[in-house]
Amino acid sequence: MTGLPVVPAPASIEALDAPPFRLTPDTVICGDAEAAAVLARLVATRTRGEVDPGTSIPAAPRAKRVETSARITLTIDPSTSSGTEDASATEAASGTGPGSDTPEAYALTVDEASIVVTGEGAAGLFYGIQTLGQLITRTRDGWTIPTVTISDTPRFAYRGVMLDVARHFHGVDTVKAYIDRAASLKFNALHLHLTDDQGWRLQLHSRPLLTEKASSTAVGGEAGGFYTQTDYREIVAYAAAHHMIVVPEIDLPGHTHAVSLAYPELCEQPVLSEHVRATAEEFGGGLPVNGTPYEGMAVGFSSLKIHDEATYSFLADVLGELAQLTPGPYLHIGGDECLGTSADDYAFFMARLTRLAAQTGKTPIAWHEAGSAPDLSPGTLGQYWGFVTPTDGMDEKSRRIVRGGGKLILSPADAIYLDMKFDADSPLGLTWANGVTTARRAYDWDPAGVIGGVEDEHILGVEAPLWSETVRTLADIDALAFPRIAAAAEAAWSPPGPASDVRTWESFAARVGALGPLWTSQGIGFSPLTEIAWAVDANTEGQS
Ligand code: ACM
Repeated sequence: MTGLPVVPAPASIEALDAPPFRLTPDTVICGDAEAAAVLARLVATRTRGEVDPGTSIPAAPRAKRVETSARITLTIDPSTSSGTEDASATEAASGTGPGSDTPEAYALTVDEASIVVTGEGAAGLFYGIQTLGQLITRTRDGWTIPTVTISDTPRFAYRGVMLDVARHFHGVDTVKAYIDRAASLKFNALHLHLTDDQGWRLQLHSRPLLTEKASSTAVGGEAGGFYTQTDYREIVAYAAAHHMIVVPEIDLPGHTHAVSLAYPELCEQPVLSEHVRATAEEFGGGLPVNGTPYEGMAVGFSSLKIHDEATYSFLADVLGELAQLTPGPYLHIGGDECLGTSADDYAFFMARLTRLAAQTGKTPIAWHEAGSAPDLSPGTLGQYWGFVTPTDGMDEKSRRIVRGGGKLILSPADAIYLDMKFDADSPLGLTWANGVTTARRAYDWDPAGVIGGVEDEHILGVEAPLWSETVRTLADIDALAFPRIAAAAEAAWSPPGPASDVRTWESFAARVGALGPLWTSQGIGFSPLTEIAWAVDANTEGQS
């Protein structure tokens, strides 16, 4: 094992004490054309154009140069070893991500004369290229890549990030930029939280009033927005090109105040709890009134009508159209914080909702509260958002989902909710999940150590959510997500601690710190937390 700056840490990495590969104007990339274009762009970005792939690293090499130049070869070979003999490795180790038929393992060898990246599938080759990009180093000798052998495969099949586009809307370009960032850390799922009390963000032809009447505002009364179906398809296609699926969420039966602006007859009156009043006092936004936009930050006051058949016609339209629009295998149906719904009504509703979602041909995912409902559609997946040390029976609700045949996605809020503040003085972020937090807290946990009895085989994966009550721009996203998102990537991809001697905070902090120059070259406005020593590129001015 080495201290080379690969994040997430690979399954197997061996650095050799030998001269590095030098990236020069004569370096040639050959092999898979699509992958060559990805690597050429990455090299140009990282070297700030000093190694210009447009002219210096032709994707289609000229024969004479191939003979004389250092070469980078990119290939897909289905027999590429997964890099682990660990029998407990999940299905991810031997196969594909959740929404893709392209396997994710890769091998990378670098010596002085050549680099070879071999993906078990297109996704694996893409991940090998991301690893290679992290290894590009500016030394006194110019741009180099250290001599190394890597064999890598993910621990978990599902590695997600979630973006809340309901509290503040984030347009297509911002979503694409977040896909770029997430894919570079080997995440393969983008969960879009498309609806909440503050707005409905996806155009549906079966229910056009949703975006016509319920999308125009956001938290603080700021401008809202929505994705047309063309926008949504563009996001899905961009994600697919980066080996990511889109997991759309319609949060139900709570978090549905926005529905009351379009279909008031489907919604109960808001439940004005102490929490709702206290949140209005602290953060503003007023109290919710059905039929008018809600601009505050309270939760748990809204509910669809549970015993009205019109609700289920509405849901059949919404979920059916969403399933048609979404090639990925999952529909997220929410189910969290339904404080405006009685326990019996919640159980009744979730049984019907999960079946409606399953009838679309997709697998339903619900937040872990769904485990309190005894009759979910078999195989419904759960997303745990309690703390690393569970409270209030959240672990038991999650175990019930497992007993119902569903795996879990782990999003422990006090570890990897990316909207938790790490700077008490910043206007960005919230503190309810044991904030103010640290990067170390995002790192120091293991997915199999959160819920008693829930081991790797019960875990589909790990997801880092970013809620957007305080988040308006890509710069805000970067500042909150980076670097803590890298800790979530490592929890999702890398072998657990005992299997890997680099799964320590000290190693991670050093490896992440070394990525500072890469992130800067990519325009990622990360927060330079003082827990981490951030590298800068060596100054080679005046050197060759
Ligand atoms: C959640 O944070 N309410 C899922």
